[in-house]
Amino acid sequence: MKTILSLIQPTGDLHFGNYFGAVQNWVRLQGEYTCYFGVADYHAITMPYDTGKLRENVWEIAFNLLAAGVRPGNLFIQSLIPEHAELGWILNCFASYGQVTRMTQFKDKSQQTASLGDDYVSVGLFDYPVLQAADILIYHAELVPVGKDQEQHLELTRNIATRFNQQVGKAYFRAPEALYTATPKIASPADPTRKMGKSLGPKHYINVFAEEAQIRKQIRSAVTDAGDTPAGELSPGVTNLLALLDASGEGAKAVAMAQDARNGTLRYADLKQATADGLVAVSDHMRERKAAILMDGDALKDELRETSAQIRTRAQETLQEVKDLAGLINPRL
Ligand code: TYM
Repeated sequence: MKTILSLIQPTGDLHFGNYFGAVQNWVRLQGEYTCYFGVADYHAITMPYDTGKLRENVWEIAFNLLAAGVRPGNLFIQSLIPEHAELGWILNCFASYGQVTRMTQFKDKSQQTASLGDDYVSVGLFDYPVLQAADILIYHAELVPVGKDQEQHLELTRNIATRFNQQVGKAYFRAPEALYTATPKIASPADPTRKMGKSLGPKHYINVFAEEAQIRKQIRSAVTDAGDTPAGELSPGVTNLLALLDASGEGAKAVAMAQDARNGTLRYADLKQATADGLVAVSDHMRERKAAILMDGDALKDELRETSAQIRTRAQETLQEVKDLAGLINPRL
């Protein structure tokens, strides 16, 4: 069985970008692969954050993932496996400074803090993609189900793996590949030229667990067409609504509506109605499951701590092998 791995940051809500871009694939692939899914709390502290809220956000996103269908036996909390951070340190020494400086997500996020009036940027934010490489390589993952925005981080991970292998003279790490859904790039409904995400503000993402009225309102006010789309082509806004419709399980409808849009016969109100219906159906199902999960919250927290402890033994094995290969001192030899 192949191994897959992916993590998500505990930055509060799960949105349809996360879900349709990545998490839907996690759930779908659970029967076919050995799976490691995680809550990346070490990543979440790279940006200014509220220390009093982090723990709560970790459990919140974990419960949201369980409600989406991730199995508790596959889900760990990153900081409960400190070997990720230690491997991250070692891999720092096999990561090209030049390549890390070219990471666009670092540039975006550091500019974002500056635009909020705070020009403080942590070294952790810069180093974040190397920790991500450690997350992946510590379980020898072959496939990484992520959204398109993680492509550059995956490329860095492959380069780190190659450099390590070359330096120790052994093909120890495998080079992982990204695994995309059919909709790996969901855009903001309010500005379809940008990616759906929390960082731009509440108009720019749709929470999977939002109330029905809220989802409908956000889709109703979604940008469709600024009137500058050439005939026969689809605007970014329409493309995004069609992607949301498709990902919500309405593929045939999405194909038909895309054809109408190209022919100039699509009524945007109909597209919005269909898309909102699709999203609400997905959300209803998850909200029901979430309610059941919350009733069982404490037991599930214990289960996730237990899963993390079990997965940790795998991480410990890899870390020891890496340290041996890297020529570091072994406590037993
Ligand atoms: P994060 O928490 O920003 O996002 C979690 C997952 O959701 C995907 N995603 C999207 N996909 C499509 N359209 C969007 N608008 C959209 N927004 C988010 C992301 O690509 C991601 O798959 N660095 C990672 C977390 C991480 C990780 C890892 C991922 C840490 N270690 C190891 C894979 C492997 C991140 O911040 O994702």
